[in-house]
Amino acid sequence: MARRRQIYEGKAKILYEGPEPGTLIQYFKDDATAFNAQKRGTISGKGVINNRISEHIFTALGTIGVPTHFIRRLNMREQLIRQVEIIPIEVVVRNVAAGSLSKRLGIEEGTQLPRTIIEYYYKDDALGDPMIADEHIACFGWATQEEMNDIADMAIRVNDFLSGMFAAIGIRVIDFKLEFGRVWDGDYARVILADEISPDGCRLWDMKTNQKLDKDRFRQDLGGVEEAYQEVARRLGLLQPDEDSAVLDFDTHRKKRGK
Ligand code: TMP
Repeated sequence: MARRRQIYEGKAKILYEGPEPGTLIQYFKDDATAFNAQKRGTISGKGVINNRISEHIFTALGTIGVPTHFIRRLNMREQLIRQVEIIPIEVVVRNVAAGSLSKRLGIEEGTQLPRTIIEYYYKDDALGDPMIADEHIACFGWATQEEMNDIADMAIRVNDFLSGMFAAIGIRVIDFKLEFGRVWDGDYARVILADEISPDGCRLWDMKTNQKLDKDRFRQDLGGVEEAYQEVARRLGLLQPDEDSAVLDFDTHRKKRGK
């Protein structure tokens, strides 16, 4: 079978040419990196789980009117998405102090923030994704003021939605990262949610125990990384209680057959 054309390979995903113009196939890898790829590893079955979790969340966001790049899931590790022009800004939404906020400002991890914070980082691995202000975005033309207003509005809607959805399954949304892209309709550009939403780019804590159910388990060598991702999927109703090992076995089996 002819290999399809690879458009881009990132740290956790690969993008291939899609079946129709304006579409791409997003493939989820098991590779994990942290600290700007200084730490590398694999989280077995992560790609399968993130594909399912991101499908679930993007589909639900679509139903409440947040436009996303997601079209449909194709198989265990791939989904069909709309091709977008990625806006080179990582949008981080924080409800509770953790990670770089705690480190930078000396605020104890787990402190509830009196209001939600939105931060922007310039997407540039060589520079280590530095934090930026609106002024830099306007000055260097990375996005227009109108686009930034739409992005902030969507980020808040996503936060409200995710916080409610996860609260219902006993999980606190500490913070998360979003990426947005432009789709063109003639001369007119519209901003939609892109990339993925999964435990790779969110901090998710069990509400009762404060146990971390996200990539911090990998970043901080806490162990139980695969189990944490599976637990999130299971609570979302995406894995049956005994399906997790079956999913992973199936996937390993498939890879061995070279499919
Ligand atoms: P931070 O506390 O390290 O700034 O991370 C904030 C949130 O953004 C956290 O949920 C992890 C996510 N994130 C990414 O998805 N990719 C990144 O490159 C970084 C730095 C953070």
